Amino acid sequence: MKNADVIIIGAGAAGMMCAIEAGTRGRSVLLLDHAETPGEKIRISGGGRCNFTNMRTAPQNFLSQNQHFCKSALKGYTQHDFVTLVNKHKIAFHEKALGQLFCDDSAQQIIDMLLAECRAAHVDLRTGVSVSGVDKTEDGFRVATDQGSLTSTALVIATGGKSIPKIGATGFGYEIARQFDLPVVEPRPALVPLTWAENDKARLKELSGLSVEAIVSQSASNGKTAFEEALLFTHRGLSGPSILQISSYWREGESVRINLLPDGNVAETLNRMKKDNGKQQANTALSTLLPKRLGQAIIEEMGVNRKMAELATKTIEAISDRVHRWDMKPNGSEGYRTAEVTLGGVDTNVLSSKTMECRTVPGLYFIGEVVDVTGHLGGYNFQWAWSSGVAAGRAL
Ligand code: FDA
Repeated sequence: MKNADVIIIGAGAAGMMCAIEAGTRGRSVLLLDHAETPGEKIRISGGGRCNFTNMRTAPQNFLSQNQHFCKSALKGYTQHDFVTLVNKHKIAFHEKALGQLFCDDSAQQIIDMLLAECRAAHVDLRTGVSVSGVDKTEDGFRVATDQGSLTSTALVIATGGKSIPKIGATGFGYEIARQFDLPVVEPRPALVPLTWAENDKARLKELSGLSVEAIVSQSASNGKTAFEEALLFTHRGLSGPSILQISSYWREGESVRINLLPDGNVAETLNRMKKDNGKQQANTALSTLLPKRLGQAIIEEMGVNRKMAELATKTIEAISDRVHRWDMKPNGSEGYRTAEVTLGGVDTNVLSSKTMECRTVPGLYFIGEVVDVTGHLGGYNFQWAWSSGVAAGRAL
C-alpha cells in the first residue's frame, strides 16, 4: 500500500499549483516542504505584493537552452487562467507598467488562495518535513524523511532554485537530477544586482541612492538584448529593474552598455548651451540633463570641469559618449543571497514539454524554477511556476 499516488517535494508556487491540479483530478497528493510555512517566496515577492503574472507573457520572455520548451505549458495554462483563479477568490489587483499584475493588498492573499484550493482538492500538506533522499522502487518512489519513509507512484520535484538560501532554497532538485543521471545546465544567480570593480567602487559608491531611467544592453549582443527600465546606484554596484534584467544575460569578464539618458541628446544640448551661455561650468550644464550628483560626478571623473565656451567639440562628444554609451564592467554579482531566480537547472532535453515528466525515469517530474526555464523580471517566473505545475498536475 503506497502513502499517496503522488508525492510533491516543495510547497512553493509550482508545487502547490501541481498539487491542486492533481488533487482536483482525484489523485491522492502528499505535498512536502522542509520549511515551516509554504510559499515563502510568494510572501516576499513583488515587495510584499506579489507580481503574480504578466499580461504579456510569451515564450520570448524566457531564457532556456531550448527556447521552444516553455511554449506548450504556457499555452496550456495561461496568464488569463491564473487571473480567473485570482478573480474567483476576489483578490483585488492592479496592472503596473509593462503588463505586470500585483495584489492591491498583500502577497499573503495568493498563498491563502493556493492553500484554500489545496484544501478543496484534499491535498495532504506537510511542512517542517526534512527530506534526506529519494529512491526508485519497482513501481514508484520512496522518499526518506525525518518522519519516516513515504511511498508513491509518481514523484514531483518542485524545490525551486538556489536563490535566497536563508528562506529555505536548496540545490536539492539538482542533486536528485544528478542521482538519476539527468543533465543539469549549470545554475547561476540571475535577476541580481551587479557589483562594482574595485577601481570604480570608491568613486561610484558616492552615487548610492540615485535612480534614472536607462537603457541597459548586453555588450556581447551588440545591443540586441536591451532593457529600458529604472537603474539604481547602490553602495555595492548597480541595481534596479534594467540591471536585474541584463544580469540574466551578463557573464563574468563582460561589460554592460548603459545609456543614462535614453530620451535626450547630450552632444546636441551641450553644443547649444556652449553657444547660448559659454560662461556656464560644464558640471552645471550636464546637471540640467541628469540628476545633479551624477552630472557632476561624470564631469569630475573626466577632468573637464571648465567653462562651456572652453570645451572642444571632441570633449563634448566624449561627455556625450560617457552618458549614452557607458561601458561598465562589473566584477561580479551579489550572488544567490539576493538573486530573484536561478538561471539554468534540469536540462529540458530530458523532460516532456507537455507533462514535465522525465523521459528516462517514468513517473519522475520536475516543475518550476528547478527546470532550465527562467523568466524575465515582471511576473514571468510565477507564470512559469503555475503553467509547469498545471502541466504536470494534468498528467499525473
Ligand atoms: P519556490 O522557491 O517558490 O518553492 C520551492 C519550495 O521547495 C520552497 O517552499 C522550499 O522551502 C522547498 N524546498 C527546497 N528545498 C527543499 C528540500 N530539500 N526539502 C523540502 N523542501 C524543499 N517572480 C515573479 O514572477 N514575480 C515576483 O514578484 C517575484 N518576486 C520575487 C522576489 C524575491 C525576493 C525572490 C527571491 C523571487 C521572486 N520571484 C518573483 C521569483 C519567484 O519567487 C520564483 O521564480 C518562484 O517562487 C519559483 O517557484 P518554485 O515553486 O519553482 O520554487
